Amino acid sequence: MDKAAVFICLIAFTFINVDAWNTKPFPKDFKFGVATASYQIEGAWNEDGKGENIWDHLCHHGPFVVEHNQTGDIACDSYHKYKEDVAMLKDLGVSHYRFSISWSRLLPTGFADKVNKAGVQYYKNLIKELKANGIEPLVTLYHWDLPQPLQVLGGFLNDNFVDWFGDYAQLCFDLFGDDVSNWLTFNEPISICQQGYGNGRKAPLITSPGIGEYICGKTMMIAHARAWHIYDKEYRSKQKGSVGFVVDSSWYEPNSNKTADIEASEMKLQFVWGMYINPLINGDHSSILKKQIAKRSKQQGFKRSRLPEFTKEEQKYLKGTLDIIGLNHYSTSMVSAQKNPDPDAMGFYVDCEVNEWQADDWEKSGSDWLRVVPWGIRKLLKWIKVNFNNTKILITENGYSDNGEKDLKDDRRIHYVKSYLSNIRDAMDKDGVNVVGYTLWSLMDNFEWNRGYTEKFGLYHVDFNSRNRTRTKKKSADFYKKVIATRCLAD
Ligand code: NOJ
Repeated sequence: MDKAAVFICLIAFTFINVDAWNTKPFPKDFKFGVATASYQIEGAWNEDGKGENIWDHLCHHGPFVVEHNQTGDIACDSYHKYKEDVAMLKDLGVSHYRFSISWSRLLPTGFADKVNKAGVQYYKNLIKELKANGIEPLVTLYHWDLPQPLQVLGGFLNDNFVDWFGDYAQLCFDLFGDDVSNWLTFNEPISICQQGYGNGRKAPLITSPGIGEYICGKTMMIAHARAWHIYDKEYRSKQKGSVGFVVDSSWYEPNSNKTADIEASEMKLQFVWGMYINPLINGDHSSILKKQIAKRSKQQGFKRSRLPEFTKEEQKYLKGTLDIIGLNHYSTSMVSAQKNPDPDAMGFYVDCEVNEWQADDWEKSGSDWLRVVPWGIRKLLKWIKVNFNNTKILITENGYSDNGEKDLKDDRRIHYVKSYLSNIRDAMDKDGVNVVGYTLWSLMDNFEWNRGYTEKFGLYHVDFNSRNRTRTKKKSADFYKKVIATRCLAD
């Protein structure tokens, strides 16, 4: 296959204009997959003993922040249609499928007291079906759907969260670990903390910029480390898997070569990586980040930094607890230093004192935050390599949205995926970045959080107007299938 792939790439290179495309095949063991998440696809929100989670609660009781008051009650109905999902995966030829476990389907109250047998069975069936079709599961433990009873107790603002999450993670390792060797603890700390506990845009809609969101981050770091230590001590030698963490990061391109703009880019990156990855690799927040938030807090009259410190003991506990970096990357922003930062403002988006925007001439998508800037991913990957000692990276999400009712000829998605993959290949080949795989977002159109079903990322269309949730292949699915089969990007 490899020789054939090289041959196809060469032919393509000779006969078509592939200037922008990479003709070098991806390595044989590169993981190609697609990704989804429980609340976005499963539906069956109250079936077979599942408990309520924070998105169920928000969508049913308000405040109604989701487009057209849509809910994930049925979503893609994957709880009932998982075999169809696996057939689609099989047809695509993926080696890996990234999905998440719904905590409240396994543990309806959130606590590891009563395990819901039907929930266990669902994930066992899914994993069995995947394995029977030669597809490796890649499992996210937390993709935003916290059991509501744990939210009532404060969620990520309660220190006991670490125990709750540790118990849940252990249960998953116990139940599924013999068949799952790729674990990811949390998906997207910025979405969870900054938008859930900072600016109040996502469930649980808590508004506490610059305070709640940073406490959430600290709890999450320690909860991740708890899961990692449990795995390391009790499961690793037998199950031989890895435990990673998924960070959401854009690339931040300096507006000019001026030192101030270059520093603005670094600052913005530190607010992501220095906050959420440095603790897991080096045991603490980065010093740039600590200094910046301490400075702002002092100016504002706080007695101590709003960024909670890790104790010496916590630092030791955190250090070295990341087997692999999961990267969700969709787009890029331009940045410059703020001339007159607001001294009173608080929060992730303002504490950095950086202006951020997207250029008008960058191609748009169906999401107002997502512009097509493929070169950004290469720069980001290189920056990660340099800053984190070439730690293994799995690109856990990357994809393109549109809003068409039934746009099966999705050429813009093909263009996006192709140009991003080309830059990833260059990052690997020319910059020596250790990228081990790519799971495209998403297998099929699904519940896009605040945007409901109005933004679509799928390789498969889902008919949300029919109870059957009929899936139909888009052109991009065939494109991606070919990429996987040939391991190269030429048409
Ligand atoms: C990241 C999130 O992990 C996923 O749930 C979401 O649907 C995509 N981005 C697209 O916005």
